[in-house]
Amino acid sequence: MKPRILVTRRVPKECLNLLKPYFQIEHYNKDTAIPRARLLRSLKDKEGLLCLLTDKVDHELLSAAPKLKVVSTFSVGYDHVDVPACSARGVVVTNTPGVLTESTADFTWALLMSAARRVVEGDAYMRGGKYKGWDPLMLLGTDVNGKTLGIVGFGRIGQAVAKRAGGFAMKIVYYDTRRAAPEAEAALGARFVPLDELLRESDFVSIHTVLDAGTRHLIDARAFGLMKTSAYLINAARGPIVDEKALVKALKTGKIRGAGLDVYEWEPKMATGLASCRSAVLAPHLASASLETRTKMGEMSASGLVDELARRTPSPYRVAA
Ligand code: GLV
Repeated sequence: MKPRILVTRRVPKECLNLLKPYFQIEHYNKDTAIPRARLLRSLKDKEGLLCLLTDKVDHELLSAAPKLKVVSTFSVGYDHVDVPACSARGVVVTNTPGVLTESTADFTWALLMSAARRVVEGDAYMRGGKYKGWDPLMLLGTDVNGKTLGIVGFGRIGQAVAKRAGGFAMKIVYYDTRRAAPEAEAALGARFVPLDELLRESDFVSIHTVLDAGTRHLIDARAFGLMKTSAYLINAARGPIVDEKALVKALKTGKIRGAGLDVYEWEPKMATGLASCRSAVLAPHLASASLETRTKMGEMSASGLVDELARRTPSPYRVAA
């Protein structure tokens, strides 16, 4: 008998094609999150779960899934998975590391450039029929070239963002809980600084850290108070790293100039007032959303289940407990 697995969302066909030969699949083939009650009910007889960052894997879920052996998340981030609780029950967790680094770095730059050069406002201007001809003072933005980029979280994605900054002759400062190797710093021309110094110096502050107890609300009202009034905040990491109510206030009172956001504190909702901040560019969690990358993520998340559950070999994508 093939092991039973649950797939909680519509996923690329390449992902399903890899799973089909090995598993009996229950597929919640929709473009919305599987309702919690349905998720718990469906897991009663499942050995594998292919989930998304919208599915919370916690004690409640594990208790509803007595046969569960493997949780494979279709994401690099796994803050929605209680990994210690999984390990305590012998449930292996896999994710999709590395494969979305470059796409996420590209998208970070899309947000940064769009916010700095008011691309989204310009688009609305054209579509709204407001353009009456070239105007020296129309929709003035901020130069990116030659400015200072502050990267919070200098892992794979943070460094890929830094690499791209070289093309804009930017000065790069970074903060992380661990300092990068001197060779990486030298190759990227990046200088390690304390967080407060980064906030004071940067023209663009870009977040690339994981979400955990230490980074929740890392960027709060105090942080906005330290930033330049001409600075921009870019977040393509996780929403709760930023105190979103404080961000709305900072944008509305001119404490910072603008923002580029791909993630939200209460996703899919936004803090009251954010939607009316024209200086914020808002995207619906798209950083890894290229056809190529989402296909690879699908293949990788499928391989986590195939390796662990069907082939009984450790997946290279196991999350360390
Ligand atoms: C997306 O946010 C991911 O963690 O893959």
